[in-house]
Amino acid sequence: MVNYQFLLILFLQYDLTKQRNLSPEIGGSWEPVVPERGGGADGKILGMQTVHTILLPSGKVLLVSGSSWRNLASAQYYPLFEDPKPGPGLWNQDEDPFEKSKLNSYYELINNAAIYDPQANTFYRIPHPIPVDDPDSSDKNHFAPNDLFCTGHQHLPNGNVLFVGGTQYYYPFDTGHRSTFIFDWQKELNISWNYVDWRQIPENNNNPWSFAGFMKRGRWYASILPLLDGRMMVFGGFVGFDVGFPDMYAFEMNTFVEFFDPKTSKWSAVDVKSLPNGPFTTLINPTFKPTKGWKCDDRCIEDNKYDAFKLYPQNYLFPDGRIFLTREGDFTSARTMDGAFIRNTTHTYWIGLQEKEDISFSRGPDRLTNVTSYGTTCLDPNTGLIDLFGGQLSCSGVKLYNDSRPDNYFGGCRGSRKLEQFIYSKYEPNGGHWTLDDNFLSTNIEDDRSNHYALILPTSQLLIMGGSNYDFFGSTRYPLLLTPYFDEETNQFLGYQKERMNEHLEARLYHTAALLLPDGRIWLSGGNTGRAAIHKRTKPFSSFNTSSGTQPLPDLSLIDLDYYFTTDDLILGRASRASSIPPTEMWIAEIFSPPYLFIDGKRRAEILSLSTLKPNDSFRKIIGNQVFYLLRSNQYYIVELSNLPQHCSGKRNATLVLIKMPWATHGWDGGQRLFNLEYIQLGVKEQILFFMTDARTANLPPAYYMLFYVDCMGKPSKAQMIRFDDSAQEL
Ligand SMILES: *[C@@H]1O[C@H](CO)[C@@H](O)[C@H](O)[C@H]1NC(C)=O
Ligand SMILES: *[C@@H]1O[C@H](CO)[C@@H](O)[C@H](O)[C@H]1NC(C)=O
Ligand SMILES: *[C@@H]1O[C@H](CO)[C@@H](O)[C@H](O)[C@H]1NC(C)=O
Ligand SMILES: *[C@@H]1O[C@H](CO)[C@@H](O)[C@H](O)[C@H]1NC(C)=O
Ligand SMILES: *[C@@H]1O[C@H](CO)[C@@H](O)[C@H](O)[C@H]1NC(C)=O
Ligand SMILES: *[C@@H]1O[C@H](CO)[C@@H](O)[C@H](O)[C@H]1NC(C)=O
Ligand SMILES: *[C@@H]1O[C@H](CO)[C@@H](O)[C@H](O)[C@H]1NC(C)=O
Repeated sequence: MVNYQFLLILFLQYDLTKQRNLSPEIGGSWEPVVPERGGGADGKILGMQTVHTILLPSGKVLLVSGSSWRNLASAQYYPLFEDPKPGPGLWNQDEDPFEKSKLNSYYELINNAAIYDPQANTFYRIPHPIPVDDPDSSDKNHFAPNDLFCTGHQHLPNGNVLFVGGTQYYYPFDTGHRSTFIFDWQKELNISWNYVDWRQIPENNNNPWSFAGFMKRGRWYASILPLLDGRMMVFGGFVGFDVGFPDMYAFEMNTFVEFFDPKTSKWSAVDVKSLPNGPFTTLINPTFKPTKGWKCDDRCIEDNKYDAFKLYPQNYLFPDGRIFLTREGDFTSARTMDGAFIRNTTHTYWIGLQEKEDISFSRGPDRLTNVTSYGTTCLDPNTGLIDLFGGQLSCSGVKLYNDSRPDNYFGGCRGSRKLEQFIYSKYEPNGGHWTLDDNFLSTNIEDDRSNHYALILPTSQLLIMGGSNYDFFGSTRYPLLLTPYFDEETNQFLGYQKERMNEHLEARLYHTAALLLPDGRIWLSGGNTGRAAIHKRTKPFSSFNTSSGTQPLPDLSLIDLDYYFTTDDLILGRASRASSIPPTEMWIAEIFSPPYLFIDGKRRAEILSLSTLKPNDSFRKIIGNQVFYLLRSNQYYIVELSNLPQHCSGKRNATLVLIKMPWATHGWDGGQRLFNLEYIQLGVKEQILFFMTDARTANLPPAYYMLFYVDCMGKPSKAQMIRFDDSAQEL
C-alpha cells in the first residue's frame, strides 16, 4: 500500500525547494518566444531546430539547423522489431544521394534556416545555401553536399558570417563535407522574407548566402578562431569521404589547419599531422584496440595511439600571438558503448604562428583531470583567466530506465559541476598551470551540467545556463548568475556570488543554444533527446499566395518527434514508453530577462550617439534603419547618453564595455569576448569621452561588437553596434 501522505509531503518539499518563483528583481523572468503572425512559425512552435544560433550586426538572430540529425521513416524500432537495425540517416552512400537529379529532395531535407528579429518579434524562414557542383565528380553529374548541420561558424570583420563544413553522411559514420559559405547580413536586410517561398531553391536576389570555396578536406564539428589580421583559422572536425586521400576510417580527425583570408577570399591549408609536440605526434595510448564493429584499419589503429584535436575545439588566441588549445570541446570519437575511441588524456597544447602560415606546437600544462567534453568555456572578464565550466569525463555511455533490454534510453555521459581555470604565466615551464574546483557550480549532484553555456553579460556577471546532467536527459533548468565581488579598499576581485535564477520551462539538452541579445536579454532555444524520423513528402507543396505576406508553414506532419535511439543510432522505441521524456527536437524558444533589467523601474540609460573629436562623418553609416559606427585603435570618441539614474550610491561606477558578436552551438559561445573601455566624464553628466584601445594590445580581432553603457546602478543600456577594424576604409 502506497503511503500517499508521505508522497504528498515529498511533493510539497520538492515544490518548495525547486519550483520557487523568485521575483524578477532577484530571479529574472522568462517569456516564451511567440513570433508575430506572418512568419514561418505557428504560435510558439518555431517548427525547426536551432543547432546553430548566431547574432548578426542588425540585431537579428540567424538560426540554422540543416538536416537536423534525422532518420528517414520508417526506421526499425523496438518493440516492433526485436533486433532493430541502425537507421542510415537521411543519405545512404550506396544510393548515390548527391546525384544532380536528386538535388531538389536533398535541398528539401537540409532546408532549415530562419531569421528571428528580437525587436520586431518576427520569425521568418529563409533558404539554406544551395549546393554547388562537385568538382571531384568524374561525370560532372553530382553536386557537393553542403548540409549546415554540425557546421562551424564565425563572424568576419565585416559582420558577415563564415560557415565551414557540416554533415556529409551520418552513416556508416559521421562525416563532414568541405563546402564553405558566407551569410551576408546586409543583403538579408534587403529581402522581404514574408513574400518569399522559403521552401524553394532561392533565386539569386532572395539569397543572402554565397559559396566561399572548398576546404582541403571535409569537416564535421569544426571551430573557427578569428585572428587579429582578420583571417579565420579553422580547426578540427571529422573528415569526409574525400577524393585523393586514403580510405577514411571511423572518427578520422581532420589534421589540416586552414586559413581563410576575407580580404582575398582565399583558402590555404597546413597539414599539422607530423609536427612535433602537437596532438597528432603525442603518444597517449600505445595499446589502443578498436571497438569491434567499427571500420578501423592499421592506419586508424596507429592514429588512435596519439592525441588529436577535439571536435568543436575551444581554442583561444593569446596576446603574444600564440593559440592555446584548452582541449575542451566534444569527444574525439562517437559515444560508443565501450569508450575505446575516446582519448583519455590531460594534455593541452600551444600553437605558435611564426610567419603567416608557419605553425609549430609546444605542450601546454596538463589539466588536473582528463580532458572533458561538452563543457563550456569563456575568457573570464573579471580575472582574465580561461574558465571551463562543467562537462563530461569520458564514459562509455549511460543507459537509463532499463538495463535488461536494448530498449534503454541512451543518456550519453554525465556532466559535472567543476570549474577548471587556466592561469597563464610565461615563467612556468609550459606557459602556466590549471586549477580545479570540483564543486564550483554546486555541491548537489543534480546540478551536474553538460551542453550548457557560460555567457558574459554587459555587467561582467557570468550566466551559466541550459544544458543537462547527461547529453539527452536531466535538464538543469535554472540559470546560475555569477556576480563578481571586490575588496572595498583595493578593488581586487575576490570571487563570485552565485545565485539561482528562475527556471525555464522547456528541457534544454544536447543542441541547446544560448546567447546575449543586444537589448540585454538572453536567447535560449533548442535541445535534442534523440533523432526525429522524417517522412518523404508525397504531395506537392501547399500553394503560396505571394501577395498575402504570410509565409507558408513547414509541413510538420512529415516529422515524428517521438522516436528515440540508443547506442550507435539504433532506433529503439517511442516516447510513449516514458512520457516524461521531452520530444526528440525542442522547437520552442524562450527569452530570459536577467535581474539587471528590473533595476530602477522602466528607466534605462540610452546611448544616443557617438562622435569623434575632429568632425568626421565617414565613421557613421545608416544600414537598414540603424546607425553603425566604424571605430579605430587609439582614437578618442564621445558618447552622448540619456536617461541616467538620479542617484548613485558610489558602490559601483558606470562602465562602458564592448562585447563581441556572439554565436552558439554545441554548448559554446565562442564569439563573445568582453572588453572594458576606460572613459572620463565630460563637463555634462550625459557626455563621456573614451579612448579606443589598441586592437593588438587588447587582443581584439577586427569585428562587430556591441557597445553597452552599464549605469552606476548596474543596469545596462541597449547595445550600440560598432565595427572595430583598423583596416576597414568604410562601413
Ligand atoms: C541593399 O539595398 C540598398 C538599397 O537599395 C543597396 O544600396 C545595398 O547595396 C543593398 N545591399 C546589399 C548587400 O545587397
Ligand atoms: C577512457 O575512459 C573511460 C572511462 O572514463 C573508459 O570507459 C574508456 O575505456 C577509456 N578509454 C581509453 C581508450 O582508455
Ligand atoms: C585518465 O584516464 C585514464 C584512462 O582511463 C586513467 O588511467 C587516468 O588515471 C586518468 N587520469 C586522470 C588524471 O584522471
Ligand atoms: C526491462 O526489460 C525487461 C526485459 O524485457 C522487462 O521485463 C522489464 O519490464 C523492463 N523494465 C522496465 C522498467 O521497462
Ligand atoms: C492572396 O492574398 C491577398 C492579400 O491578403 C488576398 O487579397 C487574395 O485574395 C489572396 N489570394 C488568394 C488566391 O487567396
Ligand atoms: C574618419 O573615420 C574613418 C573611419 O573611422 C577613418 O577611416 C578616417 O580616417 C577618419 N577621418 C579623419 C579625418 O579622421
Ligand atoms: C570609481 O571610480 C573612481 C575614480 O576612477 C575610483 O576612485 C573608485 O575606486 C571607483 N569605485 C569603484 C567602486 O570601482
